[in-house]
Amino acid sequence: MNQPIPVILDCDPGHDDAMAILLAAANPAVELLGITTVSGNGSLDKVTYNAQRICTLAGIAPPIARGANDPLVGKASAAPTIHGASALDGAELPEPAYDVSPLSAVELIAELVRECDRPVTLIPTGPMTNIASFLLAHPELHSRIEKISFMGGSVTRGNWTPYAEFNIWADPEAADVVLTSGLPIVMTGLNVSHMALATPEVLDRIDALGTHLATTCVDLLKFFAHTYRDVFGMPDPPLHDPVAVACVIDPSIVSTEFLPVSIELNGTLTRGATVVDVHSVTGREANVHVAMDLNVDRFWNMMMDSIRDLG
Ligand code: RIB
Ligand code: CA
Repeated sequence: MNQPIPVILDCDPGHDDAMAILLAAANPAVELLGITTVSGNGSLDKVTYNAQRICTLAGIAPPIARGANDPLVGKASAAPTIHGASALDGAELPEPAYDVSPLSAVELIAELVRECDRPVTLIPTGPMTNIASFLLAHPELHSRIEKISFMGGSVTRGNWTPYAEFNIWADPEAADVVLTSGLPIVMTGLNVSHMALATPEVLDRIDALGTHLATTCVDLLKFFAHTYRDVFGMPDPPLHDPVAVACVIDPSIVSTEFLPVSIELNGTLTRGATVVDVHSVTGREANVHVAMDLNVDRFWNMMMDSIRDLG
């Protein structure tokens, strides 16, 4: 059997980030070396506390390091209301069983990458401030990065502005640093993450696992569903972030196209848009493997197995 793929998850828990942590921790195809946090769905304090609580709930203990509270340019935006006041509302969660790392996110990523005996895959599921800061601070470690599989952007329209998806909108300059780094990049945009809908049938499948972790996941996802109905009028919430993890576990779970993707940094109405040149009309070089379709059944089976195995 091949060795598990070493991964670092950079996230802003957030309900879907929480599920991404469970998937990355449980699936045997990957080894979760560490978690770094970035403000986005909530303040840095809130999302870090949530990462600690989810790891405690799941009985896992990867190092967790605090990252950026503000984007590369400007100040942190008001956290979206999708995830509630705590940024992870909807369920009783345990107090953290362990402290965060004394290292910063960039320092932890650098340390884990240096120490790993094989190249590491980075999985950002929030604004990409930490990843960009790591790439800028450690050009000597780029060769130790296998690829970057990120959740963000969209081949179609945005969700936070008409053209920008939240993670990219929150720090467009960081996304630009990552997408122009020359590293292998896989993009899970809204066009695909909106196929991973946590329907009532999905919640029933999770509930039927019958563990405390499963019940807590159902409570969290019911809250997530409620705010998605209120804010976006969607009957079921898309579980965006775990798809970026699933793409690492089983790259064949998505179909991809290698396309030129640029970040709009200056548009008055379009800042933060991922400009995906699907017809290659710009003459720009392809730089991102863009997910275009998802094997939904295989995705949910992967999620169920992870919740079951951690329970
Ligand atoms: O637009 C969806 C993304 O924004 C997800 O990563 C969600 O957690 C929020 O961060
Ligand atoms: Ca997220």
